[in-house]
Amino acid sequence: MCGIAGYIGKKEGLPIVFTNLRKLEYRGYDSAGVAFFDFRGNGKLIKTVGKLDNLEKLIKNKKSLPLTAVVGHTRWATHGVPNKANAHPHADCDGKIFLVHNGIIENYQELKESLIKKGHNFRSQTDTEVAAHLVEEYGFEPALKKIVGAYALAVIYKNDPGKIYVARLGSPLVVGVGQDEYYVASDPTALAGLVKKVIYLKDGQRGVLSLNSMLIGPARPKIEPLDIDPEQAQKGDFPHFMLKEIFEGPEVLLSALRGRLMPDKGIVKLGGLEGVADQLRKVDKMEILACGTSYYSGLVGELLFEEFARIPTEVLLASEYRYRKLPVKKGTGALFISQSGETADTLAALRKANNHKLLTLGIVNAVGSSIARETKAGVYNHAGPEIGVASTKAFLSQLGVLTLMSLYFNPRKTKNHKEFLEELAAIPLKIRSILKESNQIKTLAKKYLKYNNFLYLGRGYNYPTALEGALKLKEISYVHAEGYAGGEMKHGPIALIDKNFPTIAVVTKNLVYEKMISNLEEIKARSGPILAIATAGDKKIAKLADDVFYVPKTAEPLEAMLNIIPLQLFAYYFGTLRGHDVDKPRNLAKSVTVE
Ligand code: F6R
Repeated sequence: MCGIAGYIGKKEGLPIVFTNLRKLEYRGYDSAGVAFFDFRGNGKLIKTVGKLDNLEKLIKNKKSLPLTAVVGHTRWATHGVPNKANAHPHADCDGKIFLVHNGIIENYQELKESLIKKGHNFRSQTDTEVAAHLVEEYGFEPALKKIVGAYALAVIYKNDPGKIYVARLGSPLVVGVGQDEYYVASDPTALAGLVKKVIYLKDGQRGVLSLNSMLIGPARPKIEPLDIDPEQAQKGDFPHFMLKEIFEGPEVLLSALRGRLMPDKGIVKLGGLEGVADQLRKVDKMEILACGTSYYSGLVGELLFEEFARIPTEVLLASEYRYRKLPVKKGTGALFISQSGETADTLAALRKANNHKLLTLGIVNAVGSSIARETKAGVYNHAGPEIGVASTKAFLSQLGVLTLMSLYFNPRKTKNHKEFLEELAAIPLKIRSILKESNQIKTLAKKYLKYNNFLYLGRGYNYPTALEGALKLKEISYVHAEGYAGGEMKHGPIALIDKNFPTIAVVTKNLVYEKMISNLEEIKARSGPILAIATAGDKKIAKLADDVFYVPKTAEPLEAMLNIIPLQLFAYYFGTLRGHDVDKPRNLAKSVTVE
């Protein structure tokens, strides 16, 4: 979603802010802008619609003197169409204040009306512009008190040059602490390689940054190390982040398992949960809350928790949970899954669960993010920054961590426990062998490129896999793809099947294999093309399906980690072959910080 960048220091700020906006491009945006006041109070506000290339052309011959406070923004439209007037930074009536904002000002209509009555002139349709005029009318701190909603704000003033005013409520904002310089960013990824120390602003914290001083309050700011390898935020030799991140799968899973999975000792250790171990023992129901891809990993988690932890588990969409009137029961654990750790719906659900005094746990990738901080305990994915908008490696690592968690809870080790842990440890190698065959998937994507509708089928652990495979295809290819439980197909979707409606079936050798075969027979009988993801050595499927991609055999609860890889690759190749920008699909944002 929208991105914020800012700089105050001895270096020339404009190129720094622009480069940092580039690093935030992955979040999704439709317009962009920068603004600055130099130490003499001379200001510039430059903004435009479209890609950052357009902004780059406009700032090419512009220089910002050293000691100039610069702010920049990439906007993902919420209030008002993507046009130049609605792009950030926004200004007050006289162009003496420039302001960038992430979040939503919920009471902006009434604030706008009262400001218009006081004589303020508005130029845009955005909620954000209200904040610029509020600051003009009342000053920074009093303005914040009038805002209802969420904000991460960075503001610069003509009359107080060389300073950036920052504030956070509900939307993330990070301050990078350098030597006589400060950076501002909505996402720490933008600061990788620039600073080693950061402050993740807490809700309600605000402050002023100038060349060699920083004043942040009311809560004392906590300086933390920034632990993001700048290499990880680069594409390297890959044409797209999405492909790079799929190929990172084996390493990502190894990092998720490292130091936690000990097959030789037959144990799983999760340091992040040690502090609540006593409370965990008393949990008699688990609710898993998440959105999108993280929700689908939660569906796999539900089956894992039932099978290994033997705890009744329910997966809920965070956006629905917020408004449901679920009876609150002591002893319920609430597990929040989020790659970004900033998803507004998931965060709001977490706050509700915390208010209900439930034991809240997290599986989060972004270190220091709001969900990581506000859950009582949790386990980091350690997948590294995920830049491609479509989540791939984070999903895989979520499955890894969920498997570990379910085993951690496992009260009486299930049969073949040690062998199972060994098999889990072998998954990264098996993923590597699938990735070696990626060209086969590319060929299949070419073959199926003519179709505009797809049904994805799976059962058991592969039902969520099918849902996630379908989500990947629709996100980056913009074709209709529906995930369905194999057994449900005959209750409706079978009506869609004909020679123009292919099915991608996840039909690996497991408990429900024969059932899936019957479902596929029904499709074949109606001339539906079938592309199957099947277990190596399965001859039966080759006779039934038009095409087969083979994956190595593994234990059923681990299958999703293997089977999702060809589905992610299929979506990737399909999207790129159709000419789409798969790293930044239309209308999507990486971190959805609005409801
Ligand atoms: C899909 C995707 C989204 C996210 C969802 C939740 O590829 O990326 O569906 O999974 O917005 O995001 P997080 O996990 O950051 O809470």
